[in-house]
Order: sequence, then C-alpha cells, then structure tokens
Amino acid sequence: MSPPSLAQAGPPDTRIDPTSFDRLARIIRDESGIVLNDSKRNLVVSRLSKRLRDLGIRDFGGYCRLLDGDQGSSEKRHLVSLLTTNVTRFFREGHHFEALRSTVFPPLVTAARDGRRIRIWSAGCSSGQEPVSIAITLLEGMPDAGRHDIRILATDIDPRMIEAGRTGIYARLEDSDVPAEIRRKYFSAVSREPDTWRTVPEVHGLITFAELNLMKEWPMRGKFDIIFCRNTVIYFDGDTQADLWKRFAEKMEPGSHLFVGHSERVSGPAEEMFTACGVTQYRRR
Ligand SMILES: C[S@@+](CC[C@H](N)C(=O)[O-])C[C@H]1O[C@@H](n2cnc3c(N)ncnc32)[C@H](O)[C@@H]1O
Repeated sequence: MSPPSLAQAGPPDTRIDPTSFDRLARIIRDESGIVLNDSKRNLVVSRLSKRLRDLGIRDFGGYCRLLDGDQGSSEKRHLVSLLTTNVTRFFREGHHFEALRSTVFPPLVTAARDGRRIRIWSAGCSSGQEPVSIAITLLEGMPDAGRHDIRILATDIDPRMIEAGRTGIYARLEDSDVPAEIRRKYFSAVSREPDTWRTVPEVHGLITFAELNLMKEWPMRGKFDIIFCRNTVIYFDGDTQADLWKRFAEKMEPGSHLFVGHSERVSGPAEEMFTACGVTQYRRR
C-alpha cells in the first residue's frame, strides 16, 4: 500500500480563511448573540484548533461544512461552548453584594417571612460563582432562607458551565476572594483533593442550574425580584443588548433590582423602565 500523500497526512491547517471566519462569526452570532469581529481571528483559531484535530478535520472550510451538514446542530453547541468567555469569580464586583446585604435583601427577607415568593435570576452564571455568592450573602442575613419560598435560578448557554455549577465543587478557594470564615461556613473540603471545596447543602439547595440561551424564548412564567446579568451582554451588539434589557424589564416586579457588569449599562427603550440606583445597579420602575 502506498503511503498517504502529504496533503492527507500533514498536520491540520490552523489558519482561518476569511470566508470560513465570516461563516463561523455568523453562526456564533445567530446561535448566541456573541459578536466576533476581525480582531478575534486568533482567538477563534486557538480555541477551535484542538476541536478540528479531535474531529480529524483538516481546515476551517471543512469545519464549516460539518456545521452546515446533518450533524450541524449538535456541533453548534460545541462551537458556542468553545467560544464563550466564562471568566468569573466569587463576590466579583463586591459593591453589588454589599448592596444586597444592606438594602436589597432586608425588605425581601421580611416579605419572605410573610410568605411571599422571592425569585432571583443569575443570567449568564458561568460555573456558578455568582449565584453561590448571592446565596451566601442571603444566608448571612437569613440563615433559614431554605425554609422559605426563595429560589435562585442560575442559567447559562454553555452546558459545561451548568454541569460544573451543578457539582457545587470549586478548586483553589484558599487564594480567592472568599474569606476564610465564609469558606469554613459555606463549603466543605473535598477530602481527596487539596484546596477543593463543595458548597454546603444550605447553599446548593437554594440554587437551580439550567441551560438557557438568552437569545431564545425564556420558559420561566413568574417575575423576578432581583436579576444579575453581569459581564454577559458585553459580547453582544447594541441592538441585542437593548432588546435584552427590555426583556429583563418585562420579567421584573415593580421595585425589583437589576445588576449589570462594570462596563455595561441599560440602553434603548428599557432606559425609561429603570432608575439607576447605585454603581451598575438599577431599580425597575
Ligand atoms: C464572562 S461570564 C460572566 C459570569 C458572571 N455573570 C460574572 O459576571 O462573573 C459570561 C457568561 O455568559 C454566557 N453566555 C454568553 N452568551 C450567552 C447567551 N446567549 N445566553 C446565555 N448565556 C450566555 C457565557 O457562557 C459565560 O458563561
């Protein structure tokens, strides 16, 4: 048997041609809202090269053909997962948790004790550090929160992140923004692994993790008292952001609170549905 030709046997071609880049950018935008401009070429190549190798595909043209073919829809989920930015950390943008503790939670705790249903949504929750930080802040002021009708919904488009959040397991907490006292109270050490921790049932029990694409329909029927959507819409274009702010507003009770990321702000028609009331914090009119 003759050896395979160099064209078949050589390493995959990891450069991306303009047509394939435009096609991938269009797919990712349609699927997730994320805008990939030309400056993201290297990022696309570095994040997808291993996937191409694993699939035995030689170049990005071939990968685009796979995405447009019969297996396209399952591969699109992989693609979105590989191109999302999942950076997060516990108690990120600490002023939001201080606002929860000092002004937002106290009246909601009273309402919950009077039997009212309280709903909180962490939209674009990544691997769960944000909803866990919300749960811990709540439990600090209301240790019996789990015995009331209070739930935190934590959603993300990336199934790997939702899976990670559901485990409740986090590594490297000793050198993180979680104070040692909070770590001892709300996490238990995973004995087999150094510096690896699992959230205690009081924390985990308050949170429901679910895969949800903000670009698609939202199945939740009720309204929310607090929405965190931080460092997520920043990857979308202005029209998509404006549309999302309006959709969030429609899902919020009057007087409820919206927290956005440090470089984000409510824009478009939703501006008149909110009053700014703190650093990247809004109140539904
Ligand atoms: C940078 S992380 C922010 C995590 C957290 N909110 C924080 O501020 O630390 C952005 C998250 O948004 C998610 N995301 C991106 N596009 C999304 C979409 N269309 N629907 C839902 N989640 C999305 C990503 O998977 C990622 O986990």
